[in-house]
Amino acid sequence: EKGGFDHFMLKEIYEQPRSIKDCMRGRIYPKEGKVQLGGIKDYTEKLKNIDRIVIIACGTSWHAGLVGEYLIEEYARVPVEVEYASEFRYRNPIISEKDLVIAISQSGETADTMAAIELAKEKGATIFGICNVVGSSIPRITHAGVYTHAGPEIGVASTKAFTAQVTVLTLMALYIAQQRGSIHQGEMVKMLTELDEIPSLVEQCLKSNDTVLAISEKLKDSRNCLFLGRGSGFPVALEGALKLKEISYIHAEGYPAAEMKHGPIALIDEDMPVIFIATKNSSYEKVISNIQEVKARKGKVIAIVTEGDKEVKKMADYVIEIPDTNEAYLPLLATIPLQLLSYHIAVLRGCNVDQPRNLAKSVTVE
Ligand code: M6R
Repeated sequence: EKGGFDHFMLKEIYEQPRSIKDCMRGRIYPKEGKVQLGGIKDYTEKLKNIDRIVIIACGTSWHAGLVGEYLIEEYARVPVEVEYASEFRYRNPIISEKDLVIAISQSGETADTMAAIELAKEKGATIFGICNVVGSSIPRITHAGVYTHAGPEIGVASTKAFTAQVTVLTLMALYIAQQRGSIHQGEMVKMLTELDEIPSLVEQCLKSNDTVLAISEKLKDSRNCLFLGRGSGFPVALEGALKLKEISYIHAEGYPAAEMKHGPIALIDEDMPVIFIATKNSSYEKVISNIQEVKARKGKVIAIVTEGDKEVKKMADYVIEIPDTNEAYLPLLATIPLQLLSYHIAVLRGCNVDQPRNLAKSVTVE
């Protein structure tokens, strides 16, 4: 049932070209420049009139929410806040009928997320769900929603569910943009045409496996790791760090690269590997100067770069290439080598990859 793979996690990582495709099936029409989301189609009028979107989730789903914040603000031009469900519910959040709450959960059973939904509902907000498990509890308590259709995820560390959540959030951002008229038709055609190519680009990212394995050999005895990125590369860094802690038990932190100088830089020495999301996009030059800061302090730099990159290659100890794409879709690609990295490091350390200690697939306690 692991389809020839040693672990469910690896199988699920390799399923991503297909799971992302399944997630988009019947929902995007590149030539017409159109997104269709049947699950929320009754709310198109509502979407024109919302003042704000609040995304609530936990763990990896919360990271997907942070990517969603970039996408929704960029394309739909609606202010977005992303909250940990557990924090949201234990304060007295300001929520009204003009708010749209989007709850994200792979399992659809996370207790904190469910309680936050109930609270937002009492306050009159419209609630959308983004869930993977069909027929789970969250889709039953939300007003509407969009399934991720990633298929069953068995590994405790979420992989394909994350990329499917990001895909749905991309579709939602474009859908809301379409309803609110904040995107030109020509831009829509371009965006959807590029989105349609993502599954095959993810396939290419998987080809970095051997390079990632070789890097994992070098990093496996590290005690700490820092993951840095800017823009939507920041949630990718957070997700990379979470994956590594969960399954390899190496202490890891994700930070926005520019925040490094406000504290974490003190940690950097020759024993501190720093993993950068350093692809060619609007923050490329800035990330390069952050890499220089790390190198100047003898840190070990591992960089995820755009294919053909020369500048970062000159500075980094190791690079992992991923194909070029629209900046909006960077998280879908840059996440793949980080999943492989945590997987290989955990295997090399003899860890139980699919069932890490102290963790459960769905956290049904508060
Ligand atoms: O099922 P959910 O998406 O609601 O679960 C949320 C978190 O418990 C989950 O993402 C957790 O952080 C994973 N172990 C991450 O790999």
